[in-house]
Amino acid sequence: MPTALITGATAGIGAAFARRLSADGFDLILLARDSERLARAAEEYGGAEVVVADLSTEEGIVRGEEAARRADLVVNNAGFGQKGRFLEVPIEDEVTMLRVHCEAVLRLTYAALPEMRERGRGGVINVASVAAFFSRGTYGASKAWVVSFSEGVAQAVPGVHVMALCPGFVHTEFHDRANIDMSGMPGAFWLDADNVVDTAIRDFRRGLSTSVPGAQYRTLVGASRFLPRNLVARLSSRTGHKYR
Ligand SMILES: NC(=O)c1ccc[n+]([C@@H]2O[C@H](COP(=O)([O-])OP(=O)(O)OC[C@H]3O[C@@H](n4cnc5c(N)ncnc54)[C@H](OP(=O)(O)O)[C@@H]3O)[C@@H](O)[C@H]2O)c1
Repeated sequence: MPTALITGATAGIGAAFARRLSADGFDLILLARDSERLARAAEEYGGAEVVVADLSTEEGIVRGEEAARRADLVVNNAGFGQKGRFLEVPIEDEVTMLRVHCEAVLRLTYAALPEMRERGRGGVINVASVAAFFSRGTYGASKAWVVSFSEGVAQAVPGVHVMALCPGFVHTEFHDRANIDMSGMPGAFWLDADNVVDTAIRDFRRGLSTSVPGAQYRTLVGASRFLPRNLVARLSSRTGHKYR
């Protein structure tokens, strides 16, 4: 049976990937920090392997790399948000974000691809965000890196598929964990994690290098490409100011 490594598999989008990939017949390797939650999740999937690792640390990334080498599909999903504008967030937290969103994604992808190329099958899904297309602080910048990185690697390593997944707002623990008040966000902008993952798997199988779930977000991302970049930055900064 093929094996899938999912980082951040205990909640939100990662848990939705675990449900879907388990139903699709994958053996799962679940990675996150909370060992008790991981153990509960592993039980749900009939004894999945767990990797307790904090991807903001060297030791955690090394554990992730070791698991990535054994996987046929790697879903680099672990991530978090931050409340506040630039200079309101401590620099240590900004660096931690780059470590989890960029360094861990880079190193787990780098670890996984040679084995996949040798086997002649496999792939990597890197969870970015629609924020990648709007200039808004370190979060958006880190996700823009994920999109650009995934598109580049997809071209550079033939025979292995790499895709960036760019969801909009999804009902998960993400905003509560970051203490971001989303009560004013209109219902039309919310996506369901299982639907996001279904779209991701469909687009991955179609061979897309970027997947944007939801017609409303595809329209938004499409429009952002035609507007001047400083206008997009101003509008996204104003929207960001509302939800914090
Ligand atoms: N929700 C949204 O609106 C939204 C929109 C666009 C993109 N995204 C992206 O989707 C991905 C998943 O987010 P989510 O919304 O599903 O968030 P979530 O519900 O808060 O889940 C985050 C998961 O990541 C794990 N995690 C967090 N920091 C970690 C670390 N340092 N090392 C290892 N695991 C870590 C958490 O488990 P532990 O706490 O046990 O480690 C948890 O399993 C993120 O990359 C996020 O940026 C989310």
